[in-house]
Amino acid sequence: MGKLIGYTQGTYDMFHIGHLNLIKNAKRRCDYLIVGVNTDELVESYKHKRPIIPLAERAEIVRAIRYVDEVLITDTLDKKAIWDKIRFDEIYIGDDWKGKFDFLKDEGCEVVYLPRTPEISTTQIKKDLNDKM
Ligand code: CTP
Repeated sequence: MGKLIGYTQGTYDMFHIGHLNLIKNAKRRCDYLIVGVNTDELVESYKHKRPIIPLAERAEIVRAIRYVDEVLITDTLDKKAIWDKIRFDEIYIGDDWKGKFDFLKDEGCEVVYLPRTPEISTTQIKKDLNDKM
C-alpha cells in the first residue's frame, strides 16, 4: 500500500490551540498531510473582512508545524475542485460541519469529521481582545 495522503483546510488566522489540535489529530490518521491555507482574497470574499495576519505569514507558520508535510495556498472553498487536483485519500473537517461534505465519499475520498476544540476560535480571540480594550 502507498502512503495515505490527508488534506485539511483553513484560514489559521492568529494560529491557536484549536488549529494545532485539529492538525495533530489529522496527522495521526495519515502518512502525508497537506494543509490548504486560504488566501486573503478568499477569506474576504465570504467573511467580508481580511484576515489579521497576511497569507504569507499564516502559510509560513502552518508550514513550520511538525505535523504538516505540505502547505497548499488555496483560493477556493470547493473541496471537490481541490480533490480533482490533488486526489487526497482522506479529508479532515471540523465536526461543526458534520455531514456537509459527505458528497466527497462518492468520489472515493474518505471524509473524516474531527472534534473541534471547545471555546476557542479566531472570532473568539478577536472578541476577547475587543472586550479588553
Ligand atoms: N478548528 C478546531 N477547533 C477550534 C477552531 C478551529 O478544530 N476551536 C479547526 C476548524 O474546524 C478547521 C481549522 O481548525 O478545520 C481551521 O479553522 P479556521 O476557520 O481557520 O479557524 P477558526 O478559529 O474556527 O476561525 P473563525 O472563528 O474565523 O471561524
